[in-house]
Amino acid sequence: MKILSVFGTRPEAIKMAPLLQCLAKQPQLESIVAVTAQHREMLDQVLQLFDIHPQYDLNLMHHGQTLEDITTAVLQGLAPIMEKERPDLVLVHGDTTTTMAASLSAYYHQIACGHVEAGLRSGDKYAPYPEEINRRITGVLADIHFAPTPLAANNLLREGIDENRIVITGNTVIDALLQATDKPCSLSGLGLDNVDWQKRIILLTCHRRENWGQPMREIFSALNDILDEHQDVEIIFPLHKNPKVREIAYHNFTNAQQVHFCEPLDYLPFSHVMKRSSLVITDSGGLQEEAPSLGKPVLVLRTVTERPEAVEAGTAMLAGNTYQSVYDTAKLLLNDSAVYQKMSHAINPYGTGHAAEKITAAILERL
Ligand code: UD1
Ligand code: UDP
Repeated sequence: MKILSVFGTRPEAIKMAPLLQCLAKQPQLESIVAVTAQHREMLDQVLQLFDIHPQYDLNLMHHGQTLEDITTAVLQGLAPIMEKERPDLVLVHGDTTTTMAASLSAYYHQIACGHVEAGLRSGDKYAPYPEEINRRITGVLADIHFAPTPLAANNLLREGIDENRIVITGNTVIDALLQATDKPCSLSGLGLDNVDWQKRIILLTCHRRENWGQPMREIFSALNDILDEHQDVEIIFPLHKNPKVREIAYHNFTNAQQVHFCEPLDYLPFSHVMKRSSLVITDSGGLQEEAPSLGKPVLVLRTVTERPEAVEAGTAMLAGNTYQSVYDTAKLLLNDSAVYQKMSHAINPYGTGHAAEKITAAILERL
């Protein structure tokens, strides 16, 4: 039985890595990998860390790439691979344009597709954009849906997916996080040498397309003002490689003393920085799953989320993406210790680190 896993960005790679490790241990399976390299450097960091050696690399990333560029390059690049390998199952992950186009490619070649991290829905087709529609399209095309939570499984059932095709597995990001935080890690030489670890650390990431432009300007200005008013707080901001994000960040953070920009961190140091932070502020999907399991409150820089489990459990809060909403929620968390304490308990609605095993077992059973 041959399984072809296709992914292209940093988060897909992090979340597929534990599954690849698990698949590799099954003697009856041949597991091969095609990366689209929708991300280049940020993907390679993860491939190296988890020792993943793809059989195929479409190497498609270029600066200023559009959604159309990615979609067409994935479809065209995967076609000969699908034909040559004729796998029994194609695995895709999550909601990127690589995910959507790879599942479409599997369908065009009439090959079964398994969707890992299936069933997440925000209910708003433009938030996150284009991820909400990417995952819905993949949901229509997939033959097996690995839903991380019961809530995600319910979303699929509501859309008419046969319950026999849905498996609740937990999220593989927790498998990856537990592996990473278990390993020792030095934080020197990463651009963080001036961080005062005695202060309260906010770990910030921000990259979503719908936040580009004015929302990002407002978010960063609000956090800059928060720093000016809280001398005992510092921000660590590993900058996404996208120049659009960098430009706005450099321009709107004027408090050079308390904000520490750095390159995207390898997953190992990143997870250790998260462990040492007081608060996570992010528009990322994955961080909304990781931070709660480490007991770190998360302010989500969005108006809606497809990951309501942590909000319902009280460890995440929607902070929106305007100056005022970000300023108010950050201030609340920093100044009201009762609110902070209430939000900083560890929860694991996204799993206990065994998602990859459950997905592998379900694949073996079905194949
Ligand atoms: C993509 C995904 C998003 C996911 C995010 C994870 C789509 C449409 N978007 O968004 O769902 O949350 O990845 O980070 O699928 N770049 C580099 N080097 C890298 C990576 C990116 O230079 O290693 C720069 C390039 O200029 C590239 C740009 O970032 O053109 C944007 O990359 P792209 O994958 O199109 O969008 P992301 O915002 O990264
Ligand atoms: N991450 C990382 N280094 C960084 C920033 C994030 O390894 O400098 C990890 C993070 O722990 C999470 C994933 O990357 O697992 C999230 O990726 P991203 O925010 O790019 O994408 P999203 O989750 O929003 O799709």
